[in-house]
Amino acid sequence: MTTLISNIGQLIGTRAESQVLRGKELGEMPNISNAFILVEDGIIVDYGKMEVLGLKIPKLPKKIMDAAGCFVLPCWCDSHSHIVFAGSRENEFVDKINGLTYAEIAAKGGGILNSAEKLNEVSEAALFNEAWKRIEAVSRLGTAAIEIKSGYGLTVAGELKMLRVIKKLKEKSAVTIKATFLGAHAYPLEFMDNHQGYIDLIIEEMLPVIASEKLADYIDVFCETGFFSPEETAIICRAGMAYGLKPKLHVNQLHSIGGIKTGQKLNAVSLDHLETLTGEDIELLSNDQWGGLCTLLPTAAFFLHMPFPPARKLIDAGCAIALATDYNPGSSPSGNMNLVIAMSCIQMRLLPEEAINAATINGAWAMGAGDQLGSITIGKKANLIFTKPIPSLAYIPYSFGTNLVDKVMINGALLS
Ligand code: NIG
Ligand code: FE
Repeated sequence: MTTLISNIGQLIGTRAESQVLRGKELGEMPNISNAFILVEDGIIVDYGKMEVLGLKIPKLPKKIMDAAGCFVLPCWCDSHSHIVFAGSRENEFVDKINGLTYAEIAAKGGGILNSAEKLNEVSEAALFNEAWKRIEAVSRLGTAAIEIKSGYGLTVAGELKMLRVIKKLKEKSAVTIKATFLGAHAYPLEFMDNHQGYIDLIIEEMLPVIASEKLADYIDVFCETGFFSPEETAIICRAGMAYGLKPKLHVNQLHSIGGIKTGQKLNAVSLDHLETLTGEDIELLSNDQWGGLCTLLPTAAFFLHMPFPPARKLIDAGCAIALATDYNPGSSPSGNMNLVIAMSCIQMRLLPEEAINAATINGAWAMGAGDQLGSITIGKKANLIFTKPIPSLAYIPYSFGTNLVDKVMINGALLS
């Protein structure tokens, strides 16, 4: 099946080659005005200026879609989410309004443990249905790829249930999905004073099944005071790496305790959150010996009323930045990448081009899909956002909170 998309006002993110963008490169946004794209079996097979369409494609396909002068962008790649969860936690949201901190809520059995209790009560089918609806909703907002973490099970059965749900989502959804095992998200109450007992459970009971059923692509640990120390993080990651899982880690959300050094030693694909960074941390993150990405989650900082990560400093130091939603019931109950982009420009002083690159091509690399997603490149998936009429690219983050996504195409098919 071949489709020609004609009369594209501005085609954004056109790249002959695709690689991680670092530092200044993030500010460059290759684009073509008055453009076309040719899609064959869900893949971009050609693109260029409308003027050369007749020369390049003398025999037009039957199926032609007129983009009517709108902007076309690669779909968002949300490389950090916890979209599989049971129920919601708006009671804690009210606690927060009343003055409790994230750490205080966690200490009184709320937070991740609250979600774990809920998750262990619901059936796999119910969990799948909840997550399916969330994926449907975010795909209409332009997200065509999402990384999903476990970590609300915290029991062997609960973690496997989550990962099996993610596997089923992978099989059934047109959205590209990557699975991350985050058994080390929090210590369950019964293991609060027996960390080794829970680490043994992860290594001896969870990981072998996860590997044999091929339930995960990545391994994650919440490296944080009151959660997992850098030493515990390294032990758990190495066990996962022995099964081929690559680390993507939660570090420096609340405290700087050495997660970055540990993550870099483990050659982490990405180090995520980074709200709390020392000067030395920024230096480490900009070290080009480490090929990984810094994934920033501004809606989580916003929702927890925390300082935003120093994105400007990271970019100016030459780091590779990706942006993601962290969609989860506790710190970011929103999966809206458009909002993430707007917030990054407004609160973290990213230029619109930087934010859009961080949410597309770098997001794709942060979830190991940079060769298939995240740019308008021949051979990549035809995952495209068609905007409503807009005067410029900067208008997207500028008009924050307004939905400017008109149509979304995933694997060459428009969402109905
Ligand atoms: O990425 N910080 C750790 N994990 C999640 C929050 C989980 C929760 O509060 O349910 C995060 O922000
Ligand atoms: Fe997270």
